[in-house]
Amino acid sequence: TNPSHHAWKKAHTFTASYYHHLLLNTVEGEEALAYLKARGITEEIIKKFQIGWSLPRWDGLTNVLKQREFDLDNMEKCGLIIRKDQGDSFFDRFRGRIMFPICDDKGQVIAFSGRILHDSTEDAKYMNSPETDLFKKNEVLYNLHQARVAIRMKKQVVVAEGFMDIIAFHRAGVENAVGTMGTALTQQHVTHLKRLTNELLFCFDGDKAGMEAARKALEATQNDRQLKRSVIVLPDQADPDDFLSVKGPEELQQFVAEKGLSEMSFYMLYHRKGLNLKQDSDVLHYTNQLLELIAKRASPIEQSLYVKQLAEDTNLELEVLQQQLRKLLASRA
Ligand code: CTP
Ligand code: MN
Ligand code: MN
Ligand code: MN
Ligand code: MN
Repeated sequence: TNPSHHAWKKAHTFTASYYHHLLLNTVEGEEALAYLKARGITEEIIKKFQIGWSLPRWDGLTNVLKQREFDLDNMEKCGLIIRKDQGDSFFDRFRGRIMFPICDDKGQVIAFSGRILHDSTEDAKYMNSPETDLFKKNEVLYNLHQARVAIRMKKQVVVAEGFMDIIAFHRAGVENAVGTMGTALTQQHVTHLKRLTNELLFCFDGDKAGMEAARKALEATQNDRQLKRSVIVLPDQADPDDFLSVKGPEELQQFVAEKGLSEMSFYMLYHRKGLNLKQDSDVLHYTNQLLELIAKRASPIEQSLYVKQLAEDTNLELEVLQQQLRKLLASRA
């Protein structure tokens, strides 16, 4: 394998502890530390997730890597620093950001994501390391290495979007949580997870994007008969971290333990969004979409269960819905 990978790993381990030190022990890190504390992140959590701070300078990390005699060409290749236009000099990729180390499943730091301190429309909220041989965003799940034992013990994994969400779950005692880091759930993610459990609980943000992410995750896994999947939809557009801030750790833990929706219940909620079921046209639209989905269900028991639910939702007669479903099934056969 590639001999420079050894140096990449060493540099990432070193850089994580450098950023971490800046956040916890220096005057330059004080504002970021205060920001995190205001969001409920204690020093204990900062240490657990090795959160850090990158200086708002062009040559903070670059100088330190040089002093430590890391080969800067190689450091550029693994994404820690950036080459100045065609020159021989380099500058820091991450500047003035709260740093989240991203680890492989063995706990080796392989990349970073940095969050700006003050939300603005000019800068992306999070900036990530570029893809390398070691860091493939569609394979890595945030916190998988630390969640592994809890996933096995609880026989379930909670899949969320963001760094702060995984940390929120940790604060609520839900330690079997991993993050997709805002990307779609991939087959590679699922393969990693299936080594630990067959039960996936999706808990994406409660906003429109999160609902779409959940729908896509269900679709991506729908042909895998071994998997059991369910979905948590958080209220009021909240993400798990927002929910924790408003409702506290017990409620978050309880919500995750009790409010998992089956695939079909999720689709009912999903297709009902924005509709007014007191209006005939909306009822028709909703009923047609749901019956299509219900017809696709393999088991007659599930079909009967969900047609009943649909009848309750719409106030339509069960008989009529069952008749329509039989028609759909016949036209498919
Ligand atoms: N993300 C990213 N780049 C962005 C925005 C988001 O990589 N410009 C990823 C991050 O992993 C982020 C996740 O997508 O954690 C979810 O994004 P979002 O919900 O917008 O951010 P939050 O995680 O809620 O961030 P915060 O609570 O810090 O505002
Ligand atoms: Mn989001
Ligand atoms: Mn979010
Ligand atoms: Mn958030
Ligand atoms: Mn936010």
